[in-house]
Amino acid sequence: MEPAIITVPLGSRAYPVVIGAGVRRLFPEYFARTGCRLAFWVTDVHVVEHWKEQIETLRDPTTELMVLPPGEDQKRLSTVEDLCRRLVSMGAERGDAIVACGGGVIGDMVGLAAALYQRGIVFIQIPTTLLAMVDASVGGKTGVDLPEGKNLVGVFHQPAFVLADTEFLNTLPQRELHSGMAEVIKMALIGEPELFAHLVKISEHGYDIFENSSYLIERCVNLKSLIVAQDEREKGRRAVLNFGHTIGHALEAWGGYQTLTHGEAVFWGMVAAIDLSRDLGLLDSAVADHIMTVIQPQLKPIPKLKFQSEQILELMARDKKTRSGRPEFVLLRGVGNAVIGQPLAESDILAALQRLRLIMRS
Ligand code: GLY
Repeated sequence: MEPAIITVPLGSRAYPVVIGAGVRRLFPEYFARTGCRLAFWVTDVHVVEHWKEQIETLRDPTTELMVLPPGEDQKRLSTVEDLCRRLVSMGAERGDAIVACGGGVIGDMVGLAAALYQRGIVFIQIPTTLLAMVDASVGGKTGVDLPEGKNLVGVFHQPAFVLADTEFLNTLPQRELHSGMAEVIKMALIGEPELFAHLVKISEHGYDIFENSSYLIERCVNLKSLIVAQDEREKGRRAVLNFGHTIGHALEAWGGYQTLTHGEAVFWGMVAAIDLSRDLGLLDSAVADHIMTVIQPQLKPIPKLKFQSEQILELMARDKKTRSGRPEFVLLRGVGNAVIGQPLAESDILAALQRLRLIMRS
């Protein structure tokens, strides 16, 4: 099947996202178009376990493959410094490129290294997880965490192209695949009613992510490219992509980034945001129930937390989505209709967290 190509329309910085089985093999063709001299590849130990030989056929053998340990705890400034020093030792120049071949953590860190190295070199994304394919690899967000919070240091640095090869999903652990579905459902709820209808249909027969992956990725990337084109630097509308992330990030932090994956935390965060939208009278109760028919089956394998609501509120206050000390929520008025900037009292948020605790117990 022909790959799908979606262009992120950013004027002179517009770039293609190529989606389909085997599209990693198009790397030499797309790389040649950048006019760069060499590509320096970075990946992680999970990816090389299954894909080393395939990567070697695409890489320049005069460069060294940089393989990082996996995990959110690698996402720190010292890793970026280490990457930049390795680039120096390999003689990387301004006219070279750096390739992030991995999940969201690799993409975020390598993107930051690309933005900083010699004040910015070309950056290429080859996402290997569903989550990175549907969201993180598109839109140019790069960054690392600080002990005080997630993604607190970063810049926007758009890639030159993205190759989303669905064959990588064949070796992705089930838990990671499931986590990626959180971002797919998020995209459907914030702006893709057609994708939501598709999810309702496939949820009746049990999700077959493999069968549906190209379509799911295509719909998500299409929506994301439109949002990014409207608001590249998240001054306004792009914040809808944070649906489920306000409480989600706090739950992730509460578990020390060990208990919940990012996607699992977003699942719980979306449950809370839907509940809050209903409670505030924004979302019709029947629509909220209909949405939950898609989310509910996805919650079964996710760890349940025994958090104190006040602790989560405190963690939310440290998040960079907080404005003037108030956590900013994305809420729903309907499927495909997300709203931001809704005034919320602390008591509303605390009540939603208490209800989430009960949902987790049930
Ligand atoms: N992942 C959210 C964004 O790119 O804005």
